[in-house]
Amino acid sequence: MDDSPQNCCDTSVDIDAMNADFSKSDDAEYMQTTIRASDIKVNSYVAVSVSNRELLMYNINGRYRASDAKCSHMKLSLEGGRIMGNCIACPHHGAHFNLDTGDAESPPAIKSIKVYEVQVHDNMLWVSI
Ligand code: FES
Repeated sequence: MDDSPQNCCDTSVDIDAMNADFSKSDDAEYMQTTIRASDIKVNSYVAVSVSNRELLMYNINGRYRASDAKCSHMKLSLEGGRIMGNCIACPHHGAHFNLDTGDAESPPAIKSIKVYEVQVHDNMLWVSI
């Protein structure tokens, strides 16, 4: 497998490699959400509140991730943004955020957003916040 960083809008995501990365943080604490894995269509997301944090939870080609729901540019909601590869595109001014790293991959945002690992247990999603 290529060791180069995953391009933000690269749609050729290696699911096995991505899931293998999750095992690196088995000691992280996960909180159960009210979201079932089956509630999120492939390449889509839902909004959820967990421990007083507003998050978006994603299904990226069968891989689950979460991020803060607000863009780092003007703190507007990312809800309504498009998933492009493993990025979310802000619906307001178009910044792209890498959902693996949280990095802002395109302007006008320059700061990252927080991203969280997600695990599935009995079809329920747990998030590492
Ligand atoms: S509020 Fe997201 S790019 Fe401006």
